[in-house]
Amino acid sequence: MNAVVYYSNTGQSKAIAEYFAHQLSFPLADVEQLSNVCYKNLVLVFPVHCQNVPHVVEKFLKKLQVQNLALVATYGKMYHGNVLWEIQRKSIFNIVAGAYVPTKHAYLQQDETFDSFDKLHCVVEKIKNPSTICFPKLRKNSFANFFPKLRSQLGVKLRKNARCNGCGHCTEQCKLHAIDCGVTNNKCIRCLKCAHTCPQNALDYTLSLPLKLYLRKQKTTQLVIYV
Ligand SMILES: Cc1cc2nc3c(=O)[nH]c(=O)nc-3n(C[C@H](O)[C@H](O)[C@H](O)COP(=O)(O)O)c2cc1C
Repeated sequence: MNAVVYYSNTGQSKAIAEYFAHQLSFPLADVEQLSNVCYKNLVLVFPVHCQNVPHVVEKFLKKLQVQNLALVATYGKMYHGNVLWEIQRKSIFNIVAGAYVPTKHAYLQQDETFDSFDKLHCVVEKIKNPSTICFPKLRKNSFANFFPKLRSQLGVKLRKNARCNGCGHCTEQCKLHAIDCGVTNNKCIRCLKCAHTCPQNALDYTLSLPLKLYLRKQKTTQLVIYV
């Protein structure tokens, strides 16, 4: 079986996954709703979180059985770290293509989404004619592995406002069980899926000053492709 599987909180990785699913005529699936883990050809699209692979994706990779795997990591134009190399190092998958795709940052309001889909065409072609590749080891911020969840929690405050009618949509959406009717617990990684999908627009978030300063300047906007 072939598929394009995505993990996406604010829709950026989902949009890239939809492109691959359309181009390859592969079925599209959300990693959080999957039961199947055996594939012939698989494209996995996910966001970079604090220069790391999100926990949900790591869990999926541990169960995965696949013949040919393509990895596409979206990032918010800060820095993508070294996640593709890290996945390859820890696994025995036959990896046939990869990309770091710059997209809108989940924490920034006015930022354009990725629209240079024509540049991803070579990845599509490589998935159709697969052969093994090796990702180069890239630099990674030495602090990236230190308490990434705690750093996100300190950097982003999330609060429900008066529009909350207790509908429980946020509780349903959060697969990490990190929010209950607008109130977050310690499992929250500040992915902001709840805030972006709340039908009442009842969740506000504010960024700490150090995070605001960090996000003020885009660090890299490069689309990096490995085929
Ligand atoms: C908790 C968290 C950590 C993030 N860390 C990084 C990062 O280290 N570098 C970066 O460029 N973007 C970072 N981003 C931005 C996301 O990678 C980017 O917004 C991504 O495209 C979101 O994909 P999604 O909408 O599919 O969830 C982070 C976003 C979140 C929510």
